[in-house]
Amino acid sequence: MSDTTEETLANLLKEDRRFEPPAELAEHANVTADAYDAAAQDRDAFWADAARRLTWAQDFTEVLDWSNPPFAQWFADGTINAAYNCVDRHVEAGKGDKVALHFVGEPVDDDPANKRSITYAQLQDMVCQAANTLGDLGVEKGDRVAIYMPMIPEAIVAMLACARIGAPHTVVFGGFSSDALASRLEDCQAKVVVTSDGGYRRGAPSSLKPAVDEARTKAADLGHTVSKVLVVRRTGQDVAWDDAVDVWWHDTVEQASTDHTPEAFPAEHPLYVMYTSGTTGKPKGILHTTGGYLTGAAYTHWAVFDLKPDSDVYWCTADIGWVTGHSYIVYGPLANGATQVLYEGTPDFPERGRWWDIVAEYGVTLFYTAPTAIRSFMKQGREIPDARDLSSLRILGSVGEPINPEAYVWYRHVIGGDRTPVVDTWWQTETGAMMISPLPGVTAGKPGSAMVPLPGISAAVVDDAGKPVGNGSGGLLVITDPWPSMLRTIWGDDDRFKETYWARFEKEGFYFAGDGAKLDDDGDLWVLGRVDDVMNVSGHRLSTTEIESALVSHPKVAEAAVVGAKDEDTGQAVCAFVILRESAVESGASDGGEDIVEELRNHVRKEIGPIAKPRQIMVVPELPKTRSGKIMRRLLRDVAENREVGDVTTLADSSVMDLISSGLSSGK
Ligand code: WT7
Repeated sequence: MSDTTEETLANLLKEDRRFEPPAELAEHANVTADAYDAAAQDRDAFWADAARRLTWAQDFTEVLDWSNPPFAQWFADGTINAAYNCVDRHVEAGKGDKVALHFVGEPVDDDPANKRSITYAQLQDMVCQAANTLGDLGVEKGDRVAIYMPMIPEAIVAMLACARIGAPHTVVFGGFSSDALASRLEDCQAKVVVTSDGGYRRGAPSSLKPAVDEARTKAADLGHTVSKVLVVRRTGQDVAWDDAVDVWWHDTVEQASTDHTPEAFPAEHPLYVMYTSGTTGKPKGILHTTGGYLTGAAYTHWAVFDLKPDSDVYWCTADIGWVTGHSYIVYGPLANGATQVLYEGTPDFPERGRWWDIVAEYGVTLFYTAPTAIRSFMKQGREIPDARDLSSLRILGSVGEPINPEAYVWYRHVIGGDRTPVVDTWWQTETGAMMISPLPGVTAGKPGSAMVPLPGISAAVVDDAGKPVGNGSGGLLVITDPWPSMLRTIWGDDDRFKETYWARFEKEGFYFAGDGAKLDDDGDLWVLGRVDDVMNVSGHRLSTTEIESALVSHPKVAEAAVVGAKDEDTGQAVCAFVILRESAVESGASDGGEDIVEELRNHVRKEIGPIAKPRQIMVVPELPKTRSGKIMRRLLRDVAENREVGDVTTLADSSVMDLISSGLSSGK
């Protein structure tokens, strides 16, 4: 490695702040340091114990069957029902009156507060009714059901009803278009769609059912027929109706019997398919099965959030349309009998303090969100959270992208009052559950590091040849041994499954995650982002994340995105897009004039090294993000390389690129 790269690495890893677990938390922690040793000594026994936190209809005798890699079978001769584990068993244990969901909806005309709390006993009735109705609509074990809904309790009820009857669900994020829905309906051959007339966004109704109608026609053009559409009345808006296909939830589910006997399914019975984007155009249907997935989701939720079901109030701000919502709103927390907030709205409506009001009102103790949200709160200033009582919080989680050290420290300091551990959890749709994360009662946290693999998980950072790099070096992140909640395949495409995840390190038998990572001198892991986001400048490897972190550590910068743009001299060059903080804008730095740009370029040079100094910094009002909050660097690369901007259909707000381009061309 060259001297410059060594220097770059050394700078990133110079982070020397450490946050020890609070003594009280450590003393009563669900999981202590010996879990690492126990799992290392006997992985199968460790996961068998974790699996037995669940209730099995028939216990398993074999933990892992890895005789046909990469197709794993976990707990294969055990039988289990996921919905029974998430609902009925808590009622049977005398917890029927305990609140499962504190639903906090968007303000609606006839009910500006729009809140309701649902106990485990009520949830059981609702799930049984929905299971009976799905059966009446002809859904049988193994049939696929698509769910296209806003963040309302019925969405969770629908998922659990599917699980209860062994019909794998595929939840399609409500913000996706009818085209996206149609291709998913066709790919997994969904028999029934559960939807609603619409949902609320920023206080106003928006429609969903018309997109389902369109998607049904489009799927039919592709040769696939959806037989029934089950519709929740949420907004009361007019909807087109096809008597042969459409049925109202209130006419069926709410009239159905609350008695339903859950059937126990083999552990490897498919639980759901979640579509996620790959490197090619066609989304991949990630298949998760029942016993192993539920084991992973439940164990990690209990361990990483140190969940005390009788006193904690948990809140994950994700949407159930993403895997985070599946594992850490539905399956993990409910299998653990948690009480949680289910929130329908956006962070800043009706006003910017909305999230923190909810934390205060419900006494939220465990909070899980994404770095992008944290950075936008940083941008708005600490006065907003400071004006609320956030003293109930005891653990803060982060997921989805690397968290910049400055955002981590702000999160801990401003939101967590310097008491709360921050757990930076690395995982993926494919892994089903958290893989690399601190344990809040064990780990002395380092801002920006996901630290070490959880007990029972084996990860490594390897070079191109599959050889583990030593401490202080970077490479590719791989998982070296199978784990219970791993994806089982890509729906209908075993070859693509092997090709995408296992071909790269076939000889070693490693799962290739697609992320780059570094180990610091202590052996703690820093996830650097997708390897496709790694830049090569004059033969030196640079991470976009590293430079973004440096930019965000400057007091005038709120958010930053960095791309590697083609450059005649250096191969690639660093191009940065930054959003300035409001305070900087007020003081007149917002015009992107030479001063602020030069100041920031020099700041990066100082923070990381000369090689990282951006060729170009563009001050922009917004960054292009997907609906799950990921920055679409591809589009920024188009701008940086003076190309026509590519496909913007997966952006949360497709007008952002116009805003960026027009601002730049007018010199603003
Ligand atoms: C990719 C997976 C995990 C559920 C939400 C996203 C990135 C995720 C972290 C983290 C650094 C992270 C990775 C990963 N990522 N969490 N804590 N630190 N990077 O799921 O859409 O499947 O995306 O998100 O790049 O590969 P996903």
